[in-house]
Amino acid sequence: MPWGDPRSFKFVTNVGLITSNGKFGNNVMACEFTHHVNYRPGIIVLGVNPKDATHDNISKTKEFGVNLASIKQNILVSLAGRNSARKIDKIKFLKKLGYKFFKAKKINTLMVEGAVMHAECKVIKKIRLTDHTIFIGEVVSAYIKQDLSPLIYHGGKYLKLGKEHKKPSKKKREEWKKLAEKFSR
Ligand SMILES: Cc1cc2nc3c(=O)[nH]c(=O)nc-3n(C[C@H](O)[C@H](O)[C@H](O)COP(=O)(O)O)c2cc1C
Repeated sequence: MPWGDPRSFKFVTNVGLITSNGKFGNNVMACEFTHHVNYRPGIIVLGVNPKDATHDNISKTKEFGVNLASIKQNILVSLAGRNSARKIDKIKFLKKLGYKFFKAKKINTLMVEGAVMHAECKVIKKIRLTDHTIFIGEVVSAYIKQDLSPLIYHGGKYLKLGKEHKKPSKKKREEWKKLAEKFSR
């Protein structure tokens, strides 16, 4: 299911602005494969293409920052996702455009100002797949600086969160609970 395939376009994700520091200096890339997969300890996994400078950086330092993009950061996501630190100093370029970064608390990377949530992670496992590598990171610090809405990525488009579904009535939920009990093992 390659990128752009109608089947992979059915997924809905956040976009992580992944910060790292290593061979290519401080860097930030856009990463739709950013997923929270465990609560205690907090674990976040990334899928990163080995061709990305971020891959070299994280492999070297075994740490990365996750900055979940807000709805105001769609252009930043595009810029971080269409330029490589292999070719340009992306942080300097982005700073020139007015984007702001701050120092992480527990790891040696920058973090992105204006993100929905920040998580500083240390790599506990690296799994090489074919076109991507999975970095499994334990969260060593996570915080929210501003109450913002996350950017949604779906079908190659940047979207806003939609309206919440109305909950079924209490009566209906009671009915289903009773019915489920009839099938108890
Ligand atoms: C919205 C968006 C999502 C992306 N998601 C991923 C991803 O999940 N994994 C990945 O390896 N690259 C992803 N990319 C591409 C990288 O961000 C891109 O290759 C970037 O130039 C890598 O930067 P670097 O070489 O400085 O690390 C995405 C790009 C965009 C625009």
